[in-house]
Amino acid sequence: MKRKLLALVLAAGKGTRFKSDKIKVLHPMLGKPMIHLVVDCMHALRPETIHVVVGYQKDSVMKEEFSKPVEFIHQKKQLGTAHAVLAAKKILQSNKDKDLLVINGDLTLIRPESLRPMIRQHQREKNALTFLSAIMENPTGFGRVTYHENNVIRIFEEKDATPAQRRIKEANVGVYLFKIEDLLRALPKISNKNIKGEFYLTDIIEIMSGDKGRVGVYKAPEEQEIVGINDRYELAQAVEILRQRKIISLAESGVTIYDPSTTWIDFDVKIGRDTTLYSSVVLEGKTVIGQGCKLYPFVHIRDSRIGHEVKILTSTMIEESTIAKGAQIGPFTHLRPKSNVKAGAKVGNFVEMKSTVFGRGSKAGHLSYLGDTEVKDNVNIGAGTITCNYDGKKKHKTVIEEGAFIGSGTELVAPVKIGKDSYVGAGSTITKNVSSGALAVSRSRQVEKPRWVKKKRKK
Ligand code: UD1
Ligand code: CA
Repeated sequence: MKRKLLALVLAAGKGTRFKSDKIKVLHPMLGKPMIHLVVDCMHALRPETIHVVVGYQKDSVMKEEFSKPVEFIHQKKQLGTAHAVLAAKKILQSNKDKDLLVINGDLTLIRPESLRPMIRQHQREKNALTFLSAIMENPTGFGRVTYHENNVIRIFEEKDATPAQRRIKEANVGVYLFKIEDLLRALPKISNKNIKGEFYLTDIIEIMSGDKGRVGVYKAPEEQEIVGINDRYELAQAVEILRQRKIISLAESGVTIYDPSTTWIDFDVKIGRDTTLYSSVVLEGKTVIGQGCKLYPFVHIRDSRIGHEVKILTSTMIEESTIAKGAQIGPFTHLRPKSNVKAGAKVGNFVEMKSTVFGRGSKAGHLSYLGDTEVKDNVNIGAGTITCNYDGKKKHKTVIEEGAFIGSGTELVAPVKIGKDSYVGAGSTITKNVSSGALAVSRSRQVEKPRWVKKKRKK
């Protein structure tokens, strides 16, 4: 019979080698804190529960919103990986007949597909412990796996290893599967007599082995998945692997990516088929892009929703905004948070928006600022239109009704409302509401002095 599974993620350590004010496992990879990647991998294996051992900066880790519920265990002092597992003693004691999958919180690249065969092997061989090892080109930083008489397997931590042991290419990955009752019996036997003075979980392998067949080794098939991210360069290298994975999966789903090497797409971004990304596009956070869109070079989008068949031209930034079907944005447009551009609208060169609804088919082609504005459908915003929404203390609203035409170089001093189908003459400063169907002009009349230049020169 299959034994039931619990999961334990070790994430109490500071991650000293990161040299950061923030705990290692909260550093993001493609927009997701590391710990989420590990927790999500555990979820995919469907354990009964997932416990996360927290300690250093535990409040920040516990504040994270995980995709599925997890429970936390507090390891008050970080005395080593075995000590971290011991922090879960209570839970383990009430689940003796089950298996426990322990994973280091920095193993963010391992995929559930790679762990499933390990779980199967563990159950087939009825092991007390099965651990994951990998043959690595460069195992620096990893514990090395050594085999001895009477089936004894022993891990030497890099710091405790002799030069000869350091040349061993088989590394301990940091994933262990235990029969909980055997784990509970062996844990108290671990000592901290080593260079770091820590209780190493890896010592349990020697303690539990020896007994024929009780400890199994599962060799990881994918070396690429094995990175125990200890410093920020290792982080960058791991992120690079994730970045490529994301691009490959999008390409496989029907997205054209012209220049994968310069394209950045966060983990949670979704893109519809037949959308094309030119080089140097950056898509972050929870961005969703529809089908058949074109994103030209240097487009940077964060936490936004883009409908189908939207064109976003060069050097445009879009933050926390929505753009509906068939709209065209850019080049050089900045849509700040809460901009909502409706279907078929055009927003062009050097236009900035913030908290603005921009109606269907409306156009703002050049050099404008629209803040806290409601632009209804089919409005034309002339070049250089500026909403003066801020009086130094408060923000005020501008409403531009359907079909209105705002002449170029206009200032709309909010709060103000421009009526339906009305016209505002170019160069106006509008401080009062404009009725629908009216023409409003507010600029001084032009004066002309005939032959003025000639007279001046005579003097
Ligand atoms: C560990 C293994 C090493 C293995 C490597 C793979 C040990 C002793 N060594 O070394 O054999 O090759 O992982 O990546 O286990 N943690 C706690 N509480 C503690 C100490 C650590 O929760 O008291 C957590 C850390 O937050 C981290 C994980 O355990 O997520 C592993 O700790 P880390 O310091 O990264 O271990 P390594 O030195 O990499
Ligand atoms: Ca590590």
